[in-house]
Amino acid sequence: MCGIVAAVAQRDVAPLLIAGLKALEYRGYDSAGLAVLDDGEIRRVRAKGKVREMEALYLADPLPGGTGIAHTRWATHGVPNEANAHPHMAGRVALVHNGIIENYAPLRAELQAKGHVFTSETDTEVIAALVESRLSQGGSLREAVLAVARELEGAYAIAVISRDEPGHVVGARRGAPLLVGVGIGEHFLGSDAQALIQVTNRMIYLEEDDVVEITRESAQVFTLDGQPAERAVHESELSTDAVERGEYRHYMQKEIFEQPRAVADTLESRIGPHGVLPNIFGVGGDELLAKVQGIHIVACGTSYHAGMVARYWIEEFARLPVSVEVASEYRYREVVVPPGTLFVAISQSGETADTLAAMRESRRRGYLGTLAICNVPESSVVREADLKLMTRAGPEIGVASTKAFTTQLTALALLTLQLAQQRGLEATRYADLCQQLISLPRAIERALALEPQVVELSARFIHRQHALFLGRGAQYPVALEGSLKLKEISYIHAEAYPAGELKHGPLALVDEEMPVVAVAPSGPLLDKLKSNLQEVKARGGELIVFAAGDAGMDAETGKGVALRLDPVGEFIAPAVFTIPLQLLAYHVAVLRGTDVDQPRNLAKSVTVE
Ligand code: G6P
Repeated sequence: MCGIVAAVAQRDVAPLLIAGLKALEYRGYDSAGLAVLDDGEIRRVRAKGKVREMEALYLADPLPGGTGIAHTRWATHGVPNEANAHPHMAGRVALVHNGIIENYAPLRAELQAKGHVFTSETDTEVIAALVESRLSQGGSLREAVLAVARELEGAYAIAVISRDEPGHVVGARRGAPLLVGVGIGEHFLGSDAQALIQVTNRMIYLEEDDVVEITRESAQVFTLDGQPAERAVHESELSTDAVERGEYRHYMQKEIFEQPRAVADTLESRIGPHGVLPNIFGVGGDELLAKVQGIHIVACGTSYHAGMVARYWIEEFARLPVSVEVASEYRYREVVVPPGTLFVAISQSGETADTLAAMRESRRRGYLGTLAICNVPESSVVREADLKLMTRAGPEIGVASTKAFTTQLTALALLTLQLAQQRGLEATRYADLCQQLISLPRAIERALALEPQVVELSARFIHRQHALFLGRGAQYPVALEGSLKLKEISYIHAEAYPAGELKHGPLALVDEEMPVVAVAPSGPLLDKLKSNLQEVKARGGELIVFAAGDAGMDAETGKGVALRLDPVGEFIAPAVFTIPLQLLAYHVAVLRGTDVDQPRNLAKSVTVE
């Protein structure tokens, strides 16, 4: 999961490539590089670290030229250093790659036997060497890439230039995203539309196994057997504003505060005063959902937590059996699929390798159909699903997911309501749940107003090494999501438990050094949760409780602290109580001085297994 940009233009392309890489840094940021072809020569600049480190080298010694490729890396094969940074070169060829080549070891051994000397530990350098070897037998760069693509196993998006073909870049994709930006007298390649929106809003989304050749005048697409293919040009609705940080200190903070609008957008034209509107899942969606007898939800990371909340909702209100599983487990397990089961993939990016592979695997397993809940309209997950419900969060740049989560919950709440109504949920109950959902943007806005209190609270965490998060019912996944946020960006070890499980192990960890964060909205489980909190208090643990209104929590916390949110309906409480946990993780990370938007070792879009 690296980021790729490439360009062919009349102007110098390096500044455009660097701007594109900055928009792609969410995909990886441990090293970066670019190569430009000018006057029959390829020159490159590479550096360990973020794009700005490479940019500094570039500015000290600019590379002019109108044909170029660039890359920001998240290491898979070989440590992050300059030698392993892309572009990789072999003879006349320079190449960037996102993905993993599974048969690189035998290919590398073969090339070494023929005398090729490798200078990096990457699988990528093997592709460059193969393209060079093909070119030395004659033929064009495009023909060489087509031949090499047929030999590769695994996942890749690549962009390649050759010293002998100025004004040409050849790209290819399989299992990793790549699209074409169509400009006026210039063409681009990028891992996503954000990378290119600063130069054009006209995009061609490549399909699996497409190979593309761009020049200043044209973008020609070919299938793997070398036949020309027609691919439509789409106008992207992204705006450059959507990817700017504005007055906020970090993208994560901006994205936390965008949630009322993002949730409102996700609800727009989908729910009205009388309930969920028809066919919001696509043509034939309502008919298919009416036949559903059970649901398997598959996702990764934060999206998996959203799926876990949905299980509580769908089982309670629609009375359908639901299972939720992380995609990397699901895809390799012999899953039993009862008749009438719907497969639901949840993914912010729509390109997560495990989720996509699980969805493809589901095709073999006899599901009634597939539904994608996703934030990126042209992504692979969306294109391959039967039904889709887009979250309308807008681009999420911060690696720690925030608005993607609450908009996923919003989409899943719509799904719950649709299924519940079809299965005869009592009308007044249905109307109440709809009203709750309609009020969600406002409720999130009120929760965001707690920021100053959360800032104060976050000081308690600066020197902590560990934290426990507790919740019950649909708040258990919220506790999981809160603990994930804290560990991702503040590097504090955090774990979440269903509060009732505390005494079966984690209680042994509780002492004065252990902050215990509890999510405690009102509801039938509140008294049970209070008893669990007493178990913590009795062992000297420091309680931090997010409670609804005056739920009598002050008395429960002892030397800890209770923070009050406005009471909200039980249905939307998971989305609302997520907000203070996001703010807590954010402010703890800011106090600890970590790299909030790009935490170490992580990447936003994990397009490798
Ligand atoms: C990565 C990101 C997470 C995200 C997960 C799943 O781990 O850092 O924020 O939740 O991938 O991504 P998806 O795009 O499929 O929701």
